[in-house]
Amino acid sequence: MKCRKCGEKASVNMRQHKLALCKEHYLEWVPEQTERFIEKYEMFSHDEKILVAVSGGKDSLSLWDILIRLGYQADGLYIGLGIDAGINYSGESHRLADEFANEHNLKLHVVDIEKEYGQPIPVLSEISRRGHGKPCAVCGLTKRHVMNRIARDLGYDVLATGHNLDDEAAVLFGNTLSWSGDYLLRQGPVLPSADGLARKVKPLCRFYEREMTAYALLRGIEYIYEECPFAEGSTSIYYKEILNQLENDRPGAKLTFYLRFLEARQSGLFAERNDSTLHLHPCTNCGQPTSAPGLCSFCRMIEKVADKESIVSNL
Ligand code: AMP
Ligand code: FES
Ligand code: ZN
Ligand code: ZN
Repeated sequence: MKCRKCGEKASVNMRQHKLALCKEHYLEWVPEQTERFIEKYEMFSHDEKILVAVSGGKDSLSLWDILIRLGYQADGLYIGLGIDAGINYSGESHRLADEFANEHNLKLHVVDIEKEYGQPIPVLSEISRRGHGKPCAVCGLTKRHVMNRIARDLGYDVLATGHNLDDEAAVLFGNTLSWSGDYLLRQGPVLPSADGLARKVKPLCRFYEREMTAYALLRGIEYIYEECPFAEGSTSIYYKEILNQLENDRPGAKLTFYLRFLEARQSGLFAERNDSTLHLHPCTNCGQPTSAPGLCSFCRMIEKVADKESIVSNL
């Protein structure tokens, strides 16, 4: 297989795009494509301050790398979840995020959940009894809350995450199976800013996961190979496997599924449910918008944990 641009031996063959490229041209192609997506979906401009949520994984570290190469002003945010699971998962991902920031002379904000809220994610999850014995629900809620808080408090215009096409197609598949109108309406490359919430963007949403793996490897980015240990057996991994089977037989199916959805959404297919997002109130504790008056889900969860802890300490 030869590189389409120079005819040298190709390093990456993308059947879904009928395109093969050598290392040098692949490492040019990825940022060029990213810039196209940023412009097409009007994600942000070169004057805006971007906060990249970095987990230490290949996608978010590659995203940070690409944005810097494109000349954007992007700082990082690492959230220490306190997940060990016998492989020092959080410790190792923190080290890799730190290393990347130091190597490139970039600013990385770090929020440690245990220091900030008294307990690491697995304990918060256990005490609050949310999420059927798995910490993923509390983890997602906490990450969203912290990302919004830091972006708002430190004055960032936009929050960028490393979600790739495989992530987005899996979420879309789940939301389509249950025809969850509100979720479908909100799922896109850009979520506009709302009162107290920064704009959220996913600049890698059109890249296949294996394209990001190839980018990280060819760029020599050191990232954590392990998935979160709690992700094993999750529905999203199951959906990813199903979509991979489909992709195997029909290269490009995953991308078409996602892009046709974006077109349908753009043409107003889900628009009639738009009003449901309008009735938001600021949380009485943290100020982030929430659908019910009073505390937001995150603050309710922390309050519940604090109540239970005080009952235990008073016994
Ligand atoms: P996940 O929900 O683990 O698939 O991650 C999706 C995106 O959320 C990643 O690409 C990151 O941008 C962000 N993210 C996940 N975990 C963290 C973390 N511990 N700290 C900061 N950002 C994170
Ligand atoms: Fe949060 Fe796995 S439970 S990353
Ligand atoms: Zn080439
Ligand atoms: Zn709150």
